[in-house]
Amino acid sequence: MRLVVTGGAGFIGSNFVHQVVEGTDHDVVVIDRLTYAGNIASLAGLPASRFRLVQGDICDAALMDALVADCDAVVHFAAESHNDNSIGDPGPFIQTNLVGTFQVLEAVRRHSKRLHHVSTDEVYGDLALDDPAKFTPDTPYNPSSPYSASKAGSNMLVRAWVRTYGLNATISNCSNNYGPRQHIEKFIPRQITNVLVGRRPKLYGSGANVRDWLHVEDHNLAVLAILERGRPGQTYLVGADGELTNRQVVEAILLEMGQPPDAYDLVRDRPGHDLRYASDWSKLREELGWRPIYRDFRQGLRATIDWYRSNEAWWRPQKAAVEAKYEASAQ
Ligand code: NAD
Ligand code: TYD
Repeated sequence: MRLVVTGGAGFIGSNFVHQVVEGTDHDVVVIDRLTYAGNIASLAGLPASRFRLVQGDICDAALMDALVADCDAVVHFAAESHNDNSIGDPGPFIQTNLVGTFQVLEAVRRHSKRLHHVSTDEVYGDLALDDPAKFTPDTPYNPSSPYSASKAGSNMLVRAWVRTYGLNATISNCSNNYGPRQHIEKFIPRQITNVLVGRRPKLYGSGANVRDWLHVEDHNLAVLAILERGRPGQTYLVGADGELTNRQVVEAILLEMGQPPDAYDLVRDRPGHDLRYASDWSKLREELGWRPIYRDFRQGLRATIDWYRSNEAWWRPQKAAVEAKYEASAQ
């Protein structure tokens, strides 16, 4: 297939492009606006015979139309993706995540192409720490932040285009990803690079919030399986059954990096901070045979720490500005 990958210069998208070019026969055209979160260096080394980067905005209807006309399928990663940014300035989240997804849908509808829409388990809201229930594909959306509300809205647009226009689209809602090439504003790379530059990791609130950590390569294998074999119109949840408190994650990072496990600071909590996410991904396992390969979080974390150690040039130029922004909000 010839794939259009939106947001392919971001964290998950760039890992996806490497996995596709190195592990399948599909060719890739990336469309990416190269916002602060996009990084051309993440796409270095890909062969020109299999891959092309177009710098542009998914909100640009004419550009999306031209790219989609010339492909077999679209994998839609592009988004404003950081909760904290959405609290400070929600406007870009409405524009890219809602208006942008609308333009992707319209281009796909005009040209009758296959679409896979990448979303988050955060659209379902949060769970109590002791709740035995997990999110399922049928759980009603109940988002908490401007980010998750904009992603829930984009999912609803996709579902409406499927029902009304018969679009051949699938949706995946995944848990928190970790791995190489993740922007250092996000939790795990922020703490790793803090230790590397001699700062203490920063935990929001009491550090009791729980996330289910999924390695980015496992997530992308799920996206590929759904793209190639998923049933039209279906929603698939992707998780790792790897629930950890944020405090446990920071302690693991400190331990792996040779620091005392309590060498972190508690900082101001995020407003509206979701307590816990947990997804039932049995549909993906039963229908498509997917299961995570990275079962040992500590091993995946070690490899991720090594990547940030070895790729300082990739993240160092942004570190001071990211931390200055967090400091301004006492985080
Ligand atoms: P990211 O912020 O690292 O990358 C987003 C990419 O989209 C960047 O390269 C950016 O330049 C590009 N982009 C932003 N606005 C654009 C626009 N208007 N037009 C074209 N390109 C634009 O995000 P990520 O962490 O790689 O997330 C990818 C997708 O996965 C998102 O849809 C996100 O909601 C979803 N998701 C992420 C996680 C996670 O843990 N990171 C978890 C669940 C779901
Ligand atoms: P994040 O990576 O922003 O992902 P999400 O908000 O999508 O879950 O944050 C993961 C968790 O880590 C979340 O509970 C917020 C918390 N967090 C911290 O404790 N300290 C930090 O410096 C950051 C960025 C996040």
